[in-house]
Amino acid sequence: MEKNEIVQQLQHFRKNDIPWRDGRLWSYVYYLDKETEEIGKLAYMEYLTENGIDATAFSSLLNMENEVIGFCREILRGDEAVVGTMTTGGTESILLAVKTARDRAKAINPGQTEFEMILPETVHAAFYKAAHYFNVKPITVQVNDISLKATAELIRPHINKNTILITASAMSYAYGVVDEVKEIGQLALEKNIPFHVDGCIGAFILSTAREGGFEIENFDFTVPGVTSISMDLHKYAYCPKGASVLLFKNDSYRRHQLFVCNDWTGYTFANTGILSSKTGGPIAAAWAVTHYIGKKRYSEVAIKTMEVAQTIRKELSKHPHIEILADPKYSLISFTTPGVNIYALSDELKSRKWFAGLQFKHRHIPTNIHLTVAAHHFNNYKEFIEDVIASVEKVKIENPPLLDKDLSHLKPEDLPKLLSELGVSSEGLPEKMAMINQALEQLPKEISKELLIGFMQGLYK
Ligand SMILES: Cc1ncc(COP(=O)(O)O)c(C=O)c1O
Repeated sequence: MEKNEIVQQLQHFRKNDIPWRDGRLWSYVYYLDKETEEIGKLAYMEYLTENGIDATAFSSLLNMENEVIGFCREILRGDEAVVGTMTTGGTESILLAVKTARDRAKAINPGQTEFEMILPETVHAAFYKAAHYFNVKPITVQVNDISLKATAELIRPHINKNTILITASAMSYAYGVVDEVKEIGQLALEKNIPFHVDGCIGAFILSTAREGGFEIENFDFTVPGVTSISMDLHKYAYCPKGASVLLFKNDSYRRHQLFVCNDWTGYTFANTGILSSKTGGPIAAAWAVTHYIGKKRYSEVAIKTMEVAQTIRKELSKHPHIEILADPKYSLISFTTPGVNIYALSDELKSRKWFAGLQFKHRHIPTNIHLTVAAHHFNNYKEFIEDVIASVEKVKIENPPLLDKDLSHLKPEDLPKLLSELGVSSEGLPEKMAMINQALEQLPKEISKELLIGFMQGLYK
């Protein structure tokens, strides 16, 4: 193919993607402005072909990574002993935090064969992936029923001699609250157990908002007991994807993250992260974008984001059928709609070209819609508020039926029939997902997991 044709094709492939650039999408993408995007692209392309595999061959990447880590250490108020590395995303940072804690425990206590970590029920799914990959048993602990925050009191009874790591979120993705990090840190110190704060989504925006005078709950390296923090730059630092950091209190912890193999026949294999060869693009882009935006503007953008999120919460909660979950004060929102079919509401919003994800009910927490508010919503959040309210009114009047089936005892062999009744075919999913979402929510977890895996098998050839 000719270059022009390729470019045209690439642009054409996008035609069915969600139009994120104009703020219709309420997660996944963080977009500040065209100039920042250009700086990120320019730096990314400049280092596209350099390989992050070997710091001695590409000292450029090493230097940029060290500068980025220095900047993040400052943001997270770490002292001179704090060290870190860049990873390709929040999930990799979390995988490494767990692997590091496990390997540290093994080194300190070579006889230990069982490893457990404490996961408040609101931590990100990446911790379960880490548990699965690294054979660490996840001990899921309830959060406070009202605040939806993890607390030391609720964690304490689950700690035992196998506990290698305590975790908490600042903020939790689903409900946007900061766990009681100070108290959990005290507990971690008392029990002498590493404590990881997942700041993948929250750490950057919270810290830069605080720099600008916004009041936040403390969660960073100034909190006694915190031993590691993950923070994504490809979220609220507006860097291109592939950029997260994992910082440790000192190198005695980080030592167990590093992997060296000198037992094979090729080059010296010494990696900080899960990947070995990796493009230098995200490192260069993170260096460039953080320098381009700078601390002052980051603070301004963070505070504006908090204000926009606050306005959305305030305006939505005026409606008698909209309820904000917990009491989030920052940039994430989840709301439910008592008395109004939220599955149909999600479809209605989609028909108005808004894409906001459903989060299924969990214990006493009802099914809800999640919003990650970011800079690309600054110009259209008022329209969004109006549309949510109009959609709630419309769904209330139309009052579409809820799924009238008890699926809690459904057997795998009954699935094909159920799927065809719900309109799922080999052609794909129907436009309206309300019934499918209810079924997914109600199915026994093992069955819905198989269903989703089957769905992925179909998608990826
Ligand atoms: C709290 C939290 N942790 C971890 C992650 C995972 O990040 P990534 O998608 O970059 O792997 C996310 C993503 O939204 C998150 O919100």
